[in-house]
Amino acid sequence: MKTLREEAIWAIEAARHEGWIGEGDTAVLFHSWTQQKRYLDHLTAAFSHPRVLHAVAIKTQPHVEILRRVVGWGYGLEAASMEEVHLARKAGCPPERIVFDSPVKTRREIEQCQEDLHGIRFNVNTLEELNRLPSKPHFPVGIRINPMVETGAPSVYHVSHDESKFGVPIAQKSAILEAILAFPVTQLHVHSGSSMARTESAVTAIRSVLDLAEEANGLLANAGLERRIDTLDIGGGLMPEILTDSPSAMMAYAQALRRTCPELWSYQLITEFGQWSYFYTGYAYSDVEYAVQRGATRVAYVHVGADFLLRDAYVKPRGMEFIPLGDAADRPIVRTDIAGPLCFAGDYLQKALLLPQLEEGDGLLMLNTGSNAYALWSRHCSRTIPAVLGVDSEALEIRRLSPRTNPFV
Ligand SMILES: Cc1ncc(COP(=O)(O)O)c(C=O)c1O
Repeated sequence: MKTLREEAIWAIEAARHEGWIGEGDTAVLFHSWTQQKRYLDHLTAAFSHPRVLHAVAIKTQPHVEILRRVVGWGYGLEAASMEEVHLARKAGCPPERIVFDSPVKTRREIEQCQEDLHGIRFNVNTLEELNRLPSKPHFPVGIRINPMVETGAPSVYHVSHDESKFGVPIAQKSAILEAILAFPVTQLHVHSGSSMARTESAVTAIRSVLDLAEEANGLLANAGLERRIDTLDIGGGLMPEILTDSPSAMMAYAQALRRTCPELWSYQLITEFGQWSYFYTGYAYSDVEYAVQRGATRVAYVHVGADFLLRDAYVKPRGMEFIPLGDAADRPIVRTDIAGPLCFAGDYLQKALLLPQLEEGDGLLMLNTGSNAYALWSRHCSRTIPAVLGVDSEALEIRRLSPRTNPFV
């Protein structure tokens, strides 16, 4: 199997040859079906769970054609808003494979679930939200629990602190148990944070939610009720990783869960991995419009910036790789800043890289743009969204998933 880099170098050449990159395509975005299938197959193998719904987080990569493919492979989708639920439906996802996690659902949206989305997996964010539900919901109801653990996630992605807006703090255990007895709750949900540096904390968090489920099931049985918590949704949160022949972090995570939470394999399991599933499945091409020397630094201007790699420009670079194409590779290595096209001072994809001296007319390949990039497209400066191409590097096939488009003008 080709590496992402090998695929990208082949795909850019082939896309040009086949006319997918034409006049005016100053930048193009690529999605690797081959890598994506590999990641999702790996996820399935790592958990090897008899009753699992791997619901990939839509917010990480919401392109409808990509969602359609994920659904076609049998996976589910995690929706953070009603709009994402509609996207999931448009991509052909049956309601029972959609996990609806919006933290701010309206009463009207709940009615829509009751009327048209029977079976959708509905997680409430607060106990108060339970009062908004119909008494006999046509969908399974879960409660999002805030496990109150420190996962080492960067502060913008950390959701499990005391005053988090996400979920019901596990410290309110009696209120949660009372709610489980009083409302038709059958699942518990926990997502401890994104880009977690310490997955042990996530395992501890899942253990505490599992204990809560077991205790709730004891109380339901004592109350003579047949209903049980039968589903645990463990969220996502793992850092991206390059898959090799060595055991992966995803496998280590699943194994740690098997050791610490063996009962999880007797519940229905839901996962919601976003960036782990997509990070190494995307790449982008841009023309270098021009390059100038500023002191000791070469500044190369390209056609995607903070509008595409918003997190990288505003928070910090997340590990994109920049590869000059063609003749550029033979030039001397110089200190380089990659400047985006937006009219704001922070619009750099990365600074102080050591790259062959870039010149006007060169091409630049950017690897690892698969997650939270196209998904976060910003209208700042209202620039055109490049065409998106899907690449199957086994079948040597490239198709256009969407044309170059500007929804803003
Ligand atoms: C509820 C929920 N599930 C899943 C995810 C996906 O997280 P990640 O991309 O870190 O796997 C998020 C991310 O914000 C989330 O809020």
